[in-house]
Amino acid sequence: MSDILPSIPFIIKGIGVTLQFVIVSGILGFLIGVLLALAKLGKKSISKVLADAYTSFFRGTPLILQLVYVYFVIPQVTPWDITAFAAGVIAFSLNSAAYVSEIIRAGIQAVDKGQFEAAKALNVPYRTMMRKIILPQAIKYILPALMNEYITLLKESAVVSVIGAMDIMRRAQIVSADTFNYLGPLTVALVIYFLMVRILTFFGAKLEQRMSFSD
Ligand code: ARG
Repeated sequence: MSDILPSIPFIIKGIGVTLQFVIVSGILGFLIGVLLALAKLGKKSISKVLADAYTSFFRGTPLILQLVYVYFVIPQVTPWDITAFAAGVIAFSLNSAAYVSEIIRAGIQAVDKGQFEAAKALNVPYRTMMRKIILPQAIKYILPALMNEYITLLKESAVVSVIGAMDIMRRAQIVSADTFNYLGPLTVALVIYFLMVRILTFFGAKLEQRMSFSD
């Protein structure tokens, strides 16, 4: 273990890289996911079909393949070069959006039908109904599932190591390959991911507690 001690800061620096992927993709994925959810809940059947097709495609193929596809195929068929960071963000955002859209759609549909009907009967305009009546109730279903999604995103972000991004996973592998010590660096990586997930879970639970006060 002592032979890899000097390399631990090198692995720890990967936390920033991993977080960059997760935060940027998490935000973009959420925004795209909201749009897809709106399409799924809306009246236009064409948008529904497209949003459903999008979701089944991104959930129906391996994330690692989507990532490698973006990274290697885009530069081959378009004039644009792509960095590992951009490829990771594109693949993760598009992939996560598929999951987020389902989380939001299911959360809104889980709200009792009577709530929609009552609002309609009282002539509450659609936007007001959504903002004041439906969403405050849907958030209870949406938030825990969304937290899960970000935990998944954090763990799955380790696949960027296959396209050479210098995240926690890749740094641990580099140190392993350099020192022939697999136990040390890979264990360090396990501990780092585990702690990050615990921290995210902790804040997620806090947020959920807060939200449940509004009941
Ligand atoms: N390992 C799964 C796959 O390859 C994970 C997909 C990502 N999941 C998610 N909730 N964003 O398809």
